[in-house]
Amino acid sequence: LSIVFCAAEVAPWSKTGGLGDVMGALPQALAARGHRVTVVTARHTNGGADVARYDGAEGHAPAPRAASALAPCNALTPSPAAAAQVVPGGPLHIELGGGRQAVELHRLEADGVEWLFVDHPVFQRPGTPYGDANGPFEDNLFRFALLSLAALEAPLRIAASGGRSLGDDVTFIANDWHAALLPVFLRSRYQEGGAYRGATCALAIHNLAHQGVFPSHAFNGLSLPGGTYGLLEWRPPPGPGEDPNNHREATLNVLKGGVECADSLITVSQNYALEITSSPQPQGIHTLLAQRRALLRGIVNGIDTREWDPSSDPLIPANYSAQDLAGKAACKRALQRELRLEPDPRAPLVGFVGRLDHQKGPDLVLESLPALAALGCQVVMLGSGAPDYEAALQEATKTYGFFFRAVVGFSVPLAHRLMAGCDILLMPSRFEPCGLNQLYAMRYGTVPVAHATGGLADTIDDVSAFDGGEEGTGWTFSPATLDALAGAVAAAVRCYRSSPAAWGAVVRRGMAADHSWEGAAEQYEKVLLGAKERRLAAAV
Ligand code: GLC
Repeated sequence: LSIVFCAAEVAPWSKTGGLGDVMGALPQALAARGHRVTVVTARHTNGGADVARYDGAEGHAPAPRAASALAPCNALTPSPAAAAQVVPGGPLHIELGGGRQAVELHRLEADGVEWLFVDHPVFQRPGTPYGDANGPFEDNLFRFALLSLAALEAPLRIAASGGRSLGDDVTFIANDWHAALLPVFLRSRYQEGGAYRGATCALAIHNLAHQGVFPSHAFNGLSLPGGTYGLLEWRPPPGPGEDPNNHREATLNVLKGGVECADSLITVSQNYALEITSSPQPQGIHTLLAQRRALLRGIVNGIDTREWDPSSDPLIPANYSAQDLAGKAACKRALQRELRLEPDPRAPLVGFVGRLDHQKGPDLVLESLPALAALGCQVVMLGSGAPDYEAALQEATKTYGFFFRAVVGFSVPLAHRLMAGCDILLMPSRFEPCGLNQLYAMRYGTVPVAHATGGLADTIDDVSAFDGGEEGTGWTFSPATLDALAGAVAAAVRCYRSSPAAWGAVVRRGMAADHSWEGAAEQYEKVLLGAKERRLAAAV
């Protein structure tokens, strides 16, 4: 297959969360299976000012950023030293927003993948790929429409400038709402004009909570044929207690357009695929997703097992493996020392790592602090995000300083040290399409205690569900309430204290689980090939 990914963030060049990680790793795994893979993303720079470089591998944590209403972005542009070269032939010209936009493509070949960075002034701003301290950028619809069109134009330009031709049966993979216009443009601007005849597009949904909703008149800026408006038009259903016949005003919903036009739909766990097609979602479009259920597959993300490997990780104070966990005890001691917590080897050390927003449930962790104190736990939280959560974390360090620490910021090296040094990772996410931290934790012998939702339910086997304690890799709870959370931590702590052998078995089962990308890449391949076959069958 000739595969072209389009995504707003790609680690290590840009990352605010799991999407960036996935975009950095999945393309390589597909290339390793023999496919030709190109990734198109924006060349995010912060307009010439100092750029915080993502240097996770080398261990230079960028300074914690100022509080911002958005997810943190520790990343940005390929550093000046990175070998990305401008693709020859002059800028690409893209019709959008009533004008001709000139974008330059920067190209880098690495790890068997061609990485293309779309350069345009709208990507040269301080902040994250999505916004700054004032909120989302006002021209996000334009910015991401431009990115999507550039991803469609890029293979044509690369071929025209003497690079390898991808043919007209490219398989596009559009990720999240930022790229969801790609299948809409593909169908209406290209295929109806005869180009990309055999091409297909998969839409990968990493988080349905973000759909790209704009006022309906914004449609005019997209240079799409008028007949496509209905694909994007969306009337949010009436809220609870409202007149059921009283649908709200029409809006433009970019993700909906993508769901309508994509040849296949992928989301990042089977359980999340079920959730977004069954229970009414506060975000609406589940009815449409349910109608298109036959096209939807849940594929659990893998993790980068080279970056996350306790036996060789240079970011942790001591290396270890399932056969010899002495290094893990040393990591715990070092973490307690670093955080100035009492150096008690038997105190269960509980961690939380994540964006500080409602989805991740940091408020539930804070509320549970008295219960965790009563269980004799030590607790550490690392994350940044919504200013009020950041303030609440700081506040809690004052009240609960005898056993609680908060680090407000985004630090890859500290995240590694927490995964290695903690006994338990707490993930009370209210919803979680896949979740990567529970996978990192298990690989580091840190036992997840998580809300049984989305991918967390798919990837953690609840110890309590098995009699005799011979199985299970963590504890899950439901609903996402304080009582359920405290009950699950209490069960985990009981096991931790009463039976080091049973605890060690939970730890080792988690460490033995295979979450490498190979399996996920194989499943992606099946979905992509299936869509291609359907397209061929429809063509004859
Ligand atoms: C989003 C989801 C998260 C998922 C990640 C990568 O950030 O919230 O659950 O792991 O995307 O797919």
